[in-house]
Amino acid sequence: MRTNWNESPEKICMRSKALRIHNKRSAVKTAVFFPSRHCYDLKEALRLGIIDKNTFVVAIERDPEIAQTIFSFMQDNNMSGHVFRGNAYDCPLAEILGNRKIGYAFFDFCGDLCSNLAQWLMDIFADGLFTPAANVAFTFSLGARRCKLMKEVSRGLWEGPGNKMARRALQSLHYRPYRYGEGYSDNIAKKSFAIVDILWGCIGVKYKLDLQQIEMYKSFRTPMIMMSFGLQNRRKNGMRWAEEIATAISCC
Ligand SMILES: C[S@@+](CC[C@H](N)C(=O)[O-])C[C@H]1O[C@@H](n2cnc3c(N)ncnc32)[C@H](O)[C@@H]1O
Repeated sequence: MRTNWNESPEKICMRSKALRIHNKRSAVKTAVFFPSRHCYDLKEALRLGIIDKNTFVVAIERDPEIAQTIFSFMQDNNMSGHVFRGNAYDCPLAEILGNRKIGYAFFDFCGDLCSNLAQWLMDIFADGLFTPAANVAFTFSLGARRCKLMKEVSRGLWEGPGNKMARRALQSLHYRPYRYGEGYSDNIAKKSFAIVDILWGCIGVKYKLDLQQIEMYKSFRTPMIMMSFGLQNRRKNGMRWAEEIATAISCC
């Protein structure tokens, strides 16, 4: 029998938190999701009114069979949008969106933040594909990592964006036990620091970030991190860290 980790209490709680950062009264016009086989996030977002039948939803999925299930779900529910079948980092999001701007995105990767994904994120944020007050949430695995980017960034960690709020949130995480499960090691804390630093560099190319939530959870035995940000007005400065991240990405 296939175990469905997207149905675990930890995942349900994190999904709900990731969606509830959107606190606007009306549904967004454009959204991005990684709904997977059961489309739990789409169902919950519809229920909460974050999206509705008029929202243009871009759903991304690399597994062809799962992508077809998502397509059928969207068709059956009269949803408008596009299912991109392939790896996210090959997704020509700007082309798919045309003149639309993303109001909410749940990048529920639950995997490694590797260099090609970081490059894609940097590109879509640099292209200004988001509304100025968009909400975005991410999940990543904090498990064993093979990617060079994390090592590169971890080296310069303490010289990172130096954003006091992010530092404080991360520091407090360091002393907080997992929401579910036993405490976590310095190594895992370091990985979470590196992920936030990379995102800061990728998103900060164009937007000012307001870190809203950062939570650890577990998917089976794998430690995960969920974090959400509110995007604010265009960033005027602070490009240095983005440039350093771009250099680290291109080295990997
Ligand atoms: C954790 S599941 C999503 C669960 C869903 N969002 C929910 O709330 O239950 C992640 C899904 O995204 C897909 N995925 C992860 N990383 C991807 C990538 N880089 N490109 C395309 N699809 C990806 C996986 O195949 C999987 O189906």
